[in-house]
Amino acid sequence: MPSSKPSSIRSAGALPQPVLSQPAPVAVFLVVTMEPGGEPAVRDLLAGLAGLVRAVGFPSPDGGLCCVAGVGSAAWDRLFEGPRPRRLHPFEELEGPRHRAVATPGDLLFHIRAARTDLCFALSAEIMKRLRGAVTVQDEVQAFAYFDSRNLLGFVDGTENPVGRAAAEAAVVGDEDPTFRAGSYAIVQKYVHDVDAWEALAVEAQEKVIGRSKLTNIELDVPGSHIDVNTVTGPDGEELEILRGAMPFGRPGHGEFGTYFIAYARTPGIPESMLRNMFLGGPESGPDPILDYSQAVTGTLFFCPSATFLEAIPEEDDPD
Ligand code: HEM
Repeated sequence: MPSSKPSSIRSAGALPQPVLSQPAPVAVFLVVTMEPGGEPAVRDLLAGLAGLVRAVGFPSPDGGLCCVAGVGSAAWDRLFEGPRPRRLHPFEELEGPRHRAVATPGDLLFHIRAARTDLCFALSAEIMKRLRGAVTVQDEVQAFAYFDSRNLLGFVDGTENPVGRAAAEAAVVGDEDPTFRAGSYAIVQKYVHDVDAWEALAVEAQEKVIGRSKLTNIELDVPGSHIDVNTVTGPDGEELEILRGAMPFGRPGHGEFGTYFIAYARTPGIPESMLRNMFLGGPESGPDPILDYSQAVTGTLFFCPSATFLEAIPEEDDPD
């Protein structure tokens, strides 16, 4: 079986996939499972993905087209020989007193971002053309930036995301797993909102749920709010960070209003502890009140290997 054997030599100067790229106006989240025998087509696609993005994106230099590919825990062993990313495991389902974080199938994630819908569409189409018959699509969501970076609950989303070097520190694997340096873990969850119930709340009550003012986006001191529950600290009291890329999606004609949540992290343990606080409740607070208006309908964990790793996947007819 042709395979990619990760080596620490290859990972020494490894470059990440574009996990750190700026929030974009349009995104597509594509989650698929691999059919038996689909592995060679998937390996070929992953090896050629950067070239495909260049081909689709180059004629539109202002389009900012980029794509991050992730591989799920079970799929990893079907695709690659040798060591595994140390912390790759299936998404842990959480059953809280009132809310459930479901785990749903997903072998591959494609997180496509661009300034324009047509570029995201064209790249998704090229990816699917190469994977047809090799995969089954589990979820395909077209998401969009909404007004001034707001979600469909009307609040600005992404403010406290780390930037620059702090973003790389939060999202990109370093020396703790030398073979997989420059990779990233990605947790995705698709949330659908009960907008009628949300809009029935007074703005002040909504602000208490989120922990920020709605119009001016100023942080409020509200114990138990969404931002309070998601402020997690390490052993030395330092704040532990993730890089979020959540985007709104929806179909008003079907009554669908949602947030597609994605977090990139250097270790899945950090978003997992946030999820435990949200769904099970933390030491000082109950479950996250945002969940009374938001239901998680998917949940999957992926490892997004470095761009260098993907480029080094041998062609199927390559004798090495
Ligand atoms: C229904 C889905 C969600 C919605 C609508 C949502 C919305 C928001 C909003 C409006 C903020 C405040 C502004 C900001 O800093 O971005 C925020 C902050 C945050 N959210 Fe969420 N969020 C969702 C799910 C999650 C999940 C699943 C996690 C973690 C796994 C998470 C982690 C965080 C973190 C870490 C912050 C920043 C906290 C701080 O330091 O101030 N969120 N979210």
